[in-house]
Amino acid sequence: KHTVGLVGWRGMVGSVLMQRMMEEKDFDHIDPVFFTTSQTGQKGPEIGKDIPLLQDANDIEALKKMDIIITCQGGDYTKAIYPQLRNAGWKGYWIDAASSLRMEKDAIIVLDPVNSNVIKQGLSNGVKTFVGGNCTVSLMLLALGGLFEKGHIEWMTSMTYQAASGGGARHMRELINQMGMLQGSVASELADPASAILEIDRKVAETMRSGSLPTDQFGVPLAGSLIPYIDSQLDNGQSREEWKAQAEANKILGIDGNPIPVDGLCVRIGAMRCHSQAYTIKLNKDIPVADIEGLLAEHNQWVDVVPNDKEATMQRLTPTAATGTLGIPVGRIRKLNMGPEYISAFSVGDQLLWGAAEPLRRMLRILLN
Ligand code: HSE
Repeated sequence: KHTVGLVGWRGMVGSVLMQRMMEEKDFDHIDPVFFTTSQTGQKGPEIGKDIPLLQDANDIEALKKMDIIITCQGGDYTKAIYPQLRNAGWKGYWIDAASSLRMEKDAIIVLDPVNSNVIKQGLSNGVKTFVGGNCTVSLMLLALGGLFEKGHIEWMTSMTYQAASGGGARHMRELINQMGMLQGSVASELADPASAILEIDRKVAETMRSGSLPTDQFGVPLAGSLIPYIDSQLDNGQSREEWKAQAEANKILGIDGNPIPVDGLCVRIGAMRCHSQAYTIKLNKDIPVADIEGLLAEHNQWVDVVPNDKEATMQRLTPTAATGTLGIPVGRIRKLNMGPEYISAFSVGDQLLWGAAEPLRRMLRILLN
């Protein structure tokens, strides 16, 4: 059995990864060693079998003994430890949730339902570093995999509606606290059906602008509002999150030499952990909507093509429906007024599952085969 080191398993993405690994009985197939940055020597998590005491995640000698390391510890850890480990001659497989190594030449971005060919090729070429993709990019490729696979996309936009969890656990708490405070600021008026709505609205707006809402994480109120900027500012007008769409999507597909243009605006909204995206797609030919739906549905077992009708959309194509599941609903597929080669689509997906943890544990399984 392979000895597999797990780092950063206690954080939000790490916890989702652990949960999925338990569900899929991944631990039965490996000898896991849990690492910690703060609790060396203490007992590890309960996983239904005996495991060694926690080891020091900064101890290169201990890490070197691993055949495979999976880390959800974050980019700073990767930047500090990965080069030391490789320089020390470690030849094991590194599976990483952080973005730091994604665009490195000798790293592959893993999303096996979409790029198992790229992964297999990489493995046979001796690639040892596998990184999970940006959440919106992975969710977009799973939703639209059928169209990408057949080469039907000339260009596309993705306008995102990204959940609080993309920022982290503290962001999720802050969002709920903001929501609670907004409700609290007008609770007595709400209880009275005769109260004036414009007075309620005025008070809510006043609370949002008063500086009294907690905004340490988001910087500004998100509840009752939105933030059309995610990640850092680049010199070309894009946010880094927007830049990732084209760069990572094409790298995942293995077509970065002749990339498909992908661009759009990334927006933070008050959802918990599902990222949604509205697409405008320029096809390179006129394809009937029913055929497009068929291609998407056939591509992988997680995509759920939702018919473009109101009731089905409201029931199935929302963060409420998709959260906590591996399902990727995609719908609102229709021809746009611009012409028969232009379609819209909308997808939703859990950014902690397919957007972060799931591709990593699946990469582990590929290595075990
Ligand atoms: N950058 C993403 C977001 C999350 O802020 O929503 C991780 O890919």
